[in-house]
Amino acid sequence: MNRAFQRYFSDAIIEIHVTRKVASADWHPASWQKRTAAQQPTYPNQADLDRTIGSLSRLPPIVTSWEVDALKEHIATAQRGEAFVLQGGDCAETFDECTSENIVAKLKILLQMSLVMLYGLKKPVVRIGRMAGQYAKPRSADTETRDGKTLPSFRGDLVNRIAFTDADRIPEPQLLLRAYERAALTLNFVRSLVDGGFADLHHPEYWDLDWVGHSPMADEYREIVGSISNSLDFLETVLGRAFHRTQKAEIYAAHEGLHLLYEQAQTRFLDRRERWYNLTTHFPWIGMRTAAIEGAHVEYFRGIANPIGVKVGQGMTGEWLQELIVVLNPDNEPGRLTLIHRFGAKSIEEHLPDLISAVRETDSPVLWVCDPMHGNTETTADGTKTRRFDNIVSELESAFRVHQSMDSYLGGVHLELTGENVTECTGGARGLTDADLARAYKSTVDPRLNYEQAMEIAMRIAGLRNA
Ligand code: PEP
Ligand code: CO
Repeated sequence: MNRAFQRYFSDAIIEIHVTRKVASADWHPASWQKRTAAQQPTYPNQADLDRTIGSLSRLPPIVTSWEVDALKEHIATAQRGEAFVLQGGDCAETFDECTSENIVAKLKILLQMSLVMLYGLKKPVVRIGRMAGQYAKPRSADTETRDGKTLPSFRGDLVNRIAFTDADRIPEPQLLLRAYERAALTLNFVRSLVDGGFADLHHPEYWDLDWVGHSPMADEYREIVGSISNSLDFLETVLGRAFHRTQKAEIYAAHEGLHLLYEQAQTRFLDRRERWYNLTTHFPWIGMRTAAIEGAHVEYFRGIANPIGVKVGQGMTGEWLQELIVVLNPDNEPGRLTLIHRFGAKSIEEHLPDLISAVRETDSPVLWVCDPMHGNTETTADGTKTRRFDNIVSELESAFRVHQSMDSYLGGVHLELTGENVTECTGGARGLTDADLARAYKSTVDPRLNYEQAMEIAMRIAGLRNA
């Protein structure tokens, strides 16, 4: 390199540096505090809260930046139509359910569903759990009144406790640390299982849930597993080597980035990458209720380097979505932005096309994901929250149809599900009715698909089952 060029080159680098610093000088992990932050709890003791956030900021991160960057690459691949994202897990994780049985069951259902989808769609499936940090919930009201008594609403185990007493409902900073620890325990166990070969595609028999034998879907699933194992054996025999990439299934973590002090405390600047990362999770998303352009959540999310999601539903306009894209992905970075739409079976056909057109006008890459759960919540005659399997399937089918008709790619699904045999959503292969709901209803917030219902969705997405 000649000297003049070298000088020009280093000046240019300094300039890029300076421009970047200037461009981000108005952002830092706490800059959201100047904005209105919706859905935040009110803690009675500020000093106690400050101390806890201080402790949280000093603890090691739950995920690493290279995992976060790897997921961003996978999402970029899905944006190009070359992969499919399966995002699933609890509406709200609970401290009580942080057990080995529960974590294993969640991992198994995600692995089984992804195997079925891989087989049917003939594309890599990116697995993202709503897990290891999904402890905070948005609520429609700050308070709840029962028999004339009013207390703060339950906002998830990160914030307070579900029992309806004064002591349980007062937001408690210590719970932030308990949640952080459980998130770390969960991901540690998931990583150990994956590293130990639990997710090895050669041994999908490890993932059989005990009662899969009784399921109407079991034979179909076992046939798929047999066929994949045979294909792998055949290819490895022909090639004379094992498929390393297929041996280990990566599992990423995601949660709604709702409680901004919690997210801020684990936001770190990585010198090597010159960017800020939220290291509580790989993939945080902005919920429906906190996507205001001028709001604190959008301000916080714009500064982190993670791949992020935004939930969009009725009420989201084309202009609003275009503004969100400009603020959250100003450089049109591939893999950065995922739009998770949740309209409800009755409304999707009417609202989705306008948003697809609005996004197309920006020329910015996004991944479209369908959440067929949150627009289809209803309450039964006795006051139980449920979702009807047929509505969930109908919204999914409409989503695929609308995207296809507009030459757009629906690259993923976002589901509330569990590997357990709960009765929270009605319908499905066993035709659960409202009367069945009381039998095994465990969710503290929204109703989840049980094991069989989740597998049936996976088979339908894979094109292996029709209505
Ligand atoms: C959720 O995903 O649990 C949730 C609250 O969703 P939304 O923000 O779409 O209502
Ligand atoms: Co939910």
